[in-house]
Amino acid sequence: MPTPKPRLLTGDRPTGRLHLGHYVGSLANRVRLQHEYESFFIIADLHTLTTKPEPQYIKDIPLYIREIVLDYLAVGIEPSVSTIFVQSAIPETYQLNLLFEMLVTVPRLERMPTLKDMARDANMDTMPFGLLGYPVLQAVDILLPRAQVVPVGRDNQSHVELAREMARRFNNLYSEVFPEPEPIIGDVPLLVGTDGQNKMSKSLGNAIFLSDDAETVREKVSGMYTDPKRLRATDPGTVEGNPVFIYHDAFNPDRAEVGELKERYRAGKVGDVEVKAKLAQALNNFLEPLRERRAYFLAHPTIPQDVLASGILRMQTEAKQTMKLVREVTGLSYSLELFTDEVDLFGEYD
Ligand code: TRP
Repeated sequence: MPTPKPRLLTGDRPTGRLHLGHYVGSLANRVRLQHEYESFFIIADLHTLTTKPEPQYIKDIPLYIREIVLDYLAVGIEPSVSTIFVQSAIPETYQLNLLFEMLVTVPRLERMPTLKDMARDANMDTMPFGLLGYPVLQAVDILLPRAQVVPVGRDNQSHVELAREMARRFNNLYSEVFPEPEPIIGDVPLLVGTDGQNKMSKSLGNAIFLSDDAETVREKVSGMYTDPKRLRATDPGTVEGNPVFIYHDAFNPDRAEVGELKERYRAGKVGDVEVKAKLAQALNNFLEPLRERRAYFLAHPTIPQDVLASGILRMQTEAKQTMKLVREVTGLSYSLELFTDEVDLFGEYD
């Protein structure tokens, strides 16, 4: 028997379609790592409830789940080797979450820097209990399939650290059940948005989506921020930190063309129009195969449907196994045995 591959888990909240920032920051890595690791990709819908529990937001979740599955398949996540599933479809998630809540203190969670930011972004002046528990739920996601590695951005590093602590705490208190998951932190800087001001983000309206059509990409690129100090094509321009060149570096495989454009830009010998036209072309070349795969799955909707259904079944099987072990080592199996004659709760005891 070949030795089993180590397990990987990572994922996204279903809050919108995925964009170039997601690609650079994590999707490219996942596509590569899926052959080295047995990979689980979670669509973390329950996590969206921590800041948006209202029905008008829940209503949109299925749409976003659909977009994310299509984006995953479009970038090349292969359902033959990887498991894609929806968090809320795994009942053990809720069960293990309650047990994990007993193993972490409130001050430990209050120290997580990410939670204050999330509360602020959601205009909350006090934090719901569930938002405080966001990283606990994430630890559940990671530990339920007993994942060994978790590729995430720097913004999620503290959450993986908490998952490691939860695994240690559980193993010490009961018995060795969980591996201590290792974060894999992508060291690529966050991709700047088309506004050149902030990281690329759906909510800031500065994103190029993986599913944008060619014309939309051309329009977004032509509106991109460049060197603000350069007024005419004959003014020498700055390449460093210029979003147009950041994208050229990230997505244009023609290094010679990029090198030559940079040189002419610095010398004031090329206009923004040409630099942008070439960038739009490079982005469209990169996105075209993704669009084709997306169109294929949209034309054959039973395929993504089956991918998700079988991913959920696969994860349900894993979750049941882990939860059985958890019940055994904690001593909580009795609750399942009260219906049988294995527990004689009212009989004589010694
Ligand atoms: N917290 C992640 C985010 O920033 C989403 C997520 C939920 C996640 N569960 C996870 C990431 C488990 C990695 C592992 O959106």
